[in-house]
Amino acid sequence: MIGKTLYLNGCFQPLLEARISPLDRGFLFGDGVYEIIPVYSRRPFRAEQHLERFALSLAGIRIEDPHSRHEWLDIIERLIAEATWQDQGVYLQVTRGVDRKRDHPFPAKVVPTVFGMTMPLVTPTAAVFEQGVSAITASDTRWSRCDLKSTALLANVLLRQESADGGHAETILLRDGYLTEGSTSSVLMVQQGTLIAPPASNFILPGITCEVVLELACQHNLPVSHRPITEAELRSADEILLTSSTKEVLAVTQLDGKPVGNGQVGSVTRQLQTWYQGFKSTVMRHGRK
Ligand code: PDD
Repeated sequence: MIGKTLYLNGCFQPLLEARISPLDRGFLFGDGVYEIIPVYSRRPFRAEQHLERFALSLAGIRIEDPHSRHEWLDIIERLIAEATWQDQGVYLQVTRGVDRKRDHPFPAKVVPTVFGMTMPLVTPTAAVFEQGVSAITASDTRWSRCDLKSTALLANVLLRQESADGGHAETILLRDGYLTEGSTSSVLMVQQGTLIAPPASNFILPGITCEVVLELACQHNLPVSHRPITEAELRSADEILLTSSTKEVLAVTQLDGKPVGNGQVGSVTRQLQTWYQGFKSTVMRHGRK
């Protein structure tokens, strides 16, 4: 389900009237980038950080940002206002635009296609947060610019389908023996009370939810370490956590059919979930954070 009104190239218009050319390079090549901004009680969460990452993705694929920060915020506000849901996921996408032929190099003159829509924000149920989820591992077959939020998500789609086929919630990716992230989420682990995050690199999307979780951990003096995580460490972790705008903070209690730690949601994960929900409620009360 998506909102009845969407934004396309400067116009707010009904979903059913929106038209995009098949020669759009987003359609032909996946030549574009996107963002998803969670909205709680109609207030965008960490919008500035999402827009900053969007700007980095655009610069990373050499598309000039078509809007100022202020204009993006206005588009987001209007999409939120037009939709009926309190909690939403605002989706923004910019592609390189429409060419007159199919040719790999950038066209000389091309106007980016700017698209925005909003969807209901579907987060895990209380029961899923309580029980945790199962995940599988797979070799990270994506390209080497996973730090850019590209719409070219074929590898992510295929990797995620592997876990979906077995009824699992996520596919956790390993590259050259090290954890990178999930096919649709960031991955953290806990070892002897320390929250461990793989360091930022071109193989990992810098997750905004993960950033919030690490900030909350620091604020509450939970030991945090940023360092590479080997496959063996991941498999013997006390706790494994997934974070994303839609999953929030979710425990992985089974990995490749084996229990993670004691197979229950761990105490550090529970603590982080409580802090995260507390932080969210301050955002709902006081506006953008
Ligand atoms: N995915 N890593 C990958 C590969 C992701 O696709 C996502 C988010 C994240 C977490 O980022 P954030 O915390 O900023 O949501 C990490 C979104 C939700 C998606 O594409 O649907």
